[in-house]
Amino acid sequence: MAEGVAENTAGLMSKSPASDTGRMPFASRPASIHFDVFTLFPEMFGGPLQASMLKRAQETGHLSVALHDIREYATDKHHVTDEPPYGGGGGMVMKAEPVFGAVEAVLSGSGPGQDDEGMEPPVILLTPQGRLFTQEIARGLAGRRRIALVCGRYEGVDERVRQHLATDELSIGDYVLTGGELAALVVIDAVTRLLPGVLGDPTAVVEDSHVDGLLEGPHYTRPRSFRGWEVPEILLSGDHEAVACWRREEALRRTFERRPGLLGQARLTPRDREFLLRLLEDARRGRRP
Ligand code: 6GU
Repeated sequence: MAEGVAENTAGLMSKSPASDTGRMPFASRPASIHFDVFTLFPEMFGGPLQASMLKRAQETGHLSVALHDIREYATDKHHVTDEPPYGGGGGMVMKAEPVFGAVEAVLSGSGPGQDDEGMEPPVILLTPQGRLFTQEIARGLAGRRRIALVCGRYEGVDERVRQHLATDELSIGDYVLTGGELAALVVIDAVTRLLPGVLGDPTAVVEDSHVDGLLEGPHYTRPRSFRGWEVPEILLSGDHEAVACWRREEALRRTFERRPGLLGQARLTPRDREFLLRLLEDARRGRRP
């Protein structure tokens, strides 16, 4: 279905799933992933996919993205993709037919229509009504070989797309975007960076915010003194154990202060809990140590 694939000006987006390099005896998670993105605005993806980690991931074969212009799958003369809602009311609704046409043509076309375990690729509708996209969901998606992302537009999408085409619906937060395109890019970024080999330093992923369910603490780099603001002494001490302990406590403190709701889900050691109890007591006494 080459005609449904948006032109790839930089030559970075392959038109077929990332080539399979054969068996991977040690990795339970595939090292590469292919996204089929269905959108009325493929041009929105150019910039973000051609910079930084996403660019590198494509160059190294970890990531491939095919952009499919839904408008090209509208069968009428004027390629209409939206219509006024039945029952009246304002706005326009994305028609079901071009979306079904695009997704079915691409997923039944050449290239693996299924991922490794013989599973059908998930068809994810990006919509503010979806379940909230989290690091945990990103981790789950990073285990797939192929994912279809459908970007909703206008005031909504014909309900039959949700009911009979999408296998999941995701939202990236409680605010309204004009369409699912930016959300799709968020999903592609969050998932791709989890693939082994995509980030240079593997500890970078492990120690990330949200992986332990905690926010990250503060970071400092040179110079030691900037406008009279000093780097905390302990970071200069060379005492790795003390530094690790300080970082952990600062992560706990930051999470406690800014996102206490995360602590219920966080992986906490008995020592973490002790520290948090102290923070709680200090907060009750109305002081910050
Ligand atoms: Cl996935 N789509 C739109 N249109 N708005 C959103 C969103 C998605 N996630 C948060 N806001």
